[in-house]
Amino acid sequence: MEISKPVTPGQVSFLLGFIPLFLAWLYSELLEHRKKSASLKGDRDSSINLVVLDNISNKEDESSRLLEAGIQVASPKAHNSYASPSLVRFFLMDEAFLLENRLTLRAISEFGAYLVYYYICDRTDLLGESKKSYSRDLFLFLYSLLILVAAVTSFKVHHDKSPFSGKSVLYLNRHQTEEWKGWMQVLFLMYHYFNAKEIYNAIRVFIAAYVWMTGFGNFSYYYVRKDFSLARFAQMMWRLNFFVAFCCIVLNNDYMLYYICPMHTLFTLMVYGALGLLNKYNELGSVIAIKIAACFLVVILIWEVPNVFDILWSPFTFLLGYNDPDPSKPKLPRLHEWHFRSGLDRYIWIIGMIYAYYHPTVEKWMEKLEETEARKRISIKTLALAISLLVGYLWFEYIYKLDKITYNKFHPYTSWIPITVYICLRNLTQQFRNCSLTLFAWLGKITLETYISQIHIWLRSGVPNGQPRLLLSLIPNYPLMNFMLVTAIYIAVSHRLFELTNTLKTVFVPSRDNKRLMYNIATASVIAAALYSLAYVLLNGPRMIQVNF
Ligand SMILES: *[C@@H]1O[C@H](CO)[C@@H](O)[C@H](O)[C@H]1NC(C)=O
Ligand SMILES: *[C@@H]1O[C@H](CO)[C@@H](O)[C@H](O)[C@H]1NC(C)=O
Repeated sequence: MEISKPVTPGQVSFLLGFIPLFLAWLYSELLEHRKKSASLKGDRDSSINLVVLDNISNKEDESSRLLEAGIQVASPKAHNSYASPSLVRFFLMDEAFLLENRLTLRAISEFGAYLVYYYICDRTDLLGESKKSYSRDLFLFLYSLLILVAAVTSFKVHHDKSPFSGKSVLYLNRHQTEEWKGWMQVLFLMYHYFNAKEIYNAIRVFIAAYVWMTGFGNFSYYYVRKDFSLARFAQMMWRLNFFVAFCCIVLNNDYMLYYICPMHTLFTLMVYGALGLLNKYNELGSVIAIKIAACFLVVILIWEVPNVFDILWSPFTFLLGYNDPDPSKPKLPRLHEWHFRSGLDRYIWIIGMIYAYYHPTVEKWMEKLEETEARKRISIKTLALAISLLVGYLWFEYIYKLDKITYNKFHPYTSWIPITVYICLRNLTQQFRNCSLTLFAWLGKITLETYISQIHIWLRSGVPNGQPRLLLSLIPNYPLMNFMLVTAIYIAVSHRLFELTNTLKTVFVPSRDNKRLMYNIATASVIAAALYSLAYVLLNGPRMIQVNF
């Protein structure tokens, strides 16, 4: 087995942190097992008491042994004078504590195990790799097959009520947005898997649609709920960045390799900032108008005025810099990738905010429209249909068909057109609005995880920061069988990661306890710093000593 060259302190500190937690989990399962069998025995026969007692004394022996082991493993942190009680209880291998937190430890272990799997798939040559190949026929076949399966098995009519009016006219409801994400995500992933260069422009539109949803969803949330709390903010950041942070550490990648994450984080922050500043006045239409105009001005200033972008972002190069390690690619400035990616969708989040602001109004119109007499309603809808189709066609003919480079120039100013057309068509009739394909909605929920995971356990990049130019191959010479197996594992793991991210979020980011949240943040930083320093010393210690002598 060959390990990709430099082992980083980040990777070592991951192991240093993961191994004790993993052992603690195994031990907690053992304790749980004993507790269960002890209580079972106790129920059945009182003469067994002796055995139980015996068990307990054995347990004590063992726990003191494990305790020693635990302290040895964890010693660098055990001296922390202001460690939280639960941290102390962990280091002492307190049995009640381990039993209480068994499920958390299990979740952490499972999460860590996936990361190890990622490393094995993408950084060692234990498993095989193969080349990408594109056939339009196969591509369309697979996508159509999935639609067919979804339509047959997961077609669903929803009867939810609108949060605004209480009626069942659902305008931009959650099922629909998630289904929409699913449609796009499947094409986006297949585009990578098969290297379907010819749909490059469509992929740009899909990414724009995600960013549009970020603006739309977050605006609606903050505008209606007015919840600008630290806890909510931390949960959002956790959702967006928890998993990707560990991928960066374990696989030694730059954050920008997963450009969707910094982009959504940035635009989420901008929406949060736009609504959070002076949020007392959000009720006033004029204030919202000023805020939206300010968003446009900020974007114009940063992206359209020469040099401002570089001056603003250069302090963050350590976080947002990226170079493709492929020697055949031209050497570009480290911030080029960030400029390109964030620039493509610089306006669309604001459009999403505007749509969200007018959402209740449009919903009222649509309600009224549904109640008008049939002839008028049908003619208005037919007109809307005709206009949408015409605009969509013109966009397709004159913008979409441009070559990639020219298209990218127009993209920031035109991506709202296909998005709007889709929204109009998707909502044309009430029946159409109320149904969705839940299979796609299910896939739409795990887009972040499938996006990140594809690079490592579905495709293969092979080196730190590499673009995934190869495929992971578990069944050599059977490309379709391999596709099926690798895809099944990949989707299952992504789904588990989605659930684990949520489980761990509930544990570590409490909703209503800011003090504990601050405490957790501080503790996590101290532990991370301690582990990192230890790993650094372990890796560089021998060299430092040599230099000294
Ligand atoms: C329109 O389509 C979007 C996207 O599918 C959906 O979320 C929304 O509920 C629909 N409603 C209207 C009338 O825009
Ligand atoms: C805000 O945007 C992020 C990024 O797209 C998304 O994950 C999150 O669900 C959004 N929040 C809400 C409340 O819609």
